[in-house]
Amino acid sequence: MSRPPAASTDAAVRSTCPTELDPQRLPAHVAVIMDGNGRWAESRGLPRVMGHRAGVETLKSTLRLCSDWGISALTAYAFSTENWSRPGDEVNFLMTLFERVLQKELKALEAEQVRIRFLGDLNGLPHKLQELIADATQRTEANSGIHLNVCTNYGGRHELVRAARRLAEQAAAGQLDPESIDENRLAGELFTAGEQDPDLLIRTSGEHRISNFLLWQLAYAEIHVTEVFWPDFNAQALIQALKDYQSRIRRFGGLDPITP
Ligand code: FPP
Repeated sequence: MSRPPAASTDAAVRSTCPTELDPQRLPAHVAVIMDGNGRWAESRGLPRVMGHRAGVETLKSTLRLCSDWGISALTAYAFSTENWSRPGDEVNFLMTLFERVLQKELKALEAEQVRIRFLGDLNGLPHKLQELIADATQRTEANSGIHLNVCTNYGGRHELVRAARRLAEQAAAGQLDPESIDENRLAGELFTAGEQDPDLLIRTSGEHRISNFLLWQLAYAEIHVTEVFWPDFNAQALIQALKDYQSRIRRFGGLDPITP
């Protein structure tokens, strides 16, 4: 009797775009505010940080689904410039978690052709984390698959101030005519330079805020808020968000619907 085929590895299992969705009208770029980790943990009698650990698994599964279904970029808000005000233990846990995740997951990300970037003021992060980020960025930069952008020590206002300062420095050095500054030029100085703006913003755990996330880039994004806590955000919740997106008529300020 012949042996059954070896069980597929996790990385080899691919899911196809669900039939409820129109594969031609998926967002190219999804941004996500991964909120509710703490409440998810507390509702189970667990320390808040366990919610962040569970949240990593959700980010991995969401990335896999987005990649499988043909979404080109996923941008996740992992740590804001305001999150430093949390208790020291929680901040330290998160920094160590980012390091561990990078160490543990980099090979799989490489194998799956994911291009990972960290957006934000990376100089403010612990030195070891900065090194791991530089290594992961460099090792995946030529990958042809989904773009995963992890916003870490990121604040939308800080990003805009930084862009303004960079343009001012170029102008002061005589390298840039202020008259030539337009939207493209400013966008080119943002952390997201070269990335298409998100089409869809998903926020979990029910808050209707954008919390200093991608202030420029979300100008015309559709917003989907779900009550689900981030660690519980599964394939069904993603399908709901994408169906909601596909039900919207996008006009970008004009009168006629614009289809991607
Ligand atoms: C918000 O929930 C979540 C965070 C501040 C951290 C999110 C980080 C991860 C999921 C880890 C990602 C890791 C990598 C390497 C990309 P909250 O704590 O504000 O929840 P609450 O509103 O219930 O208190």
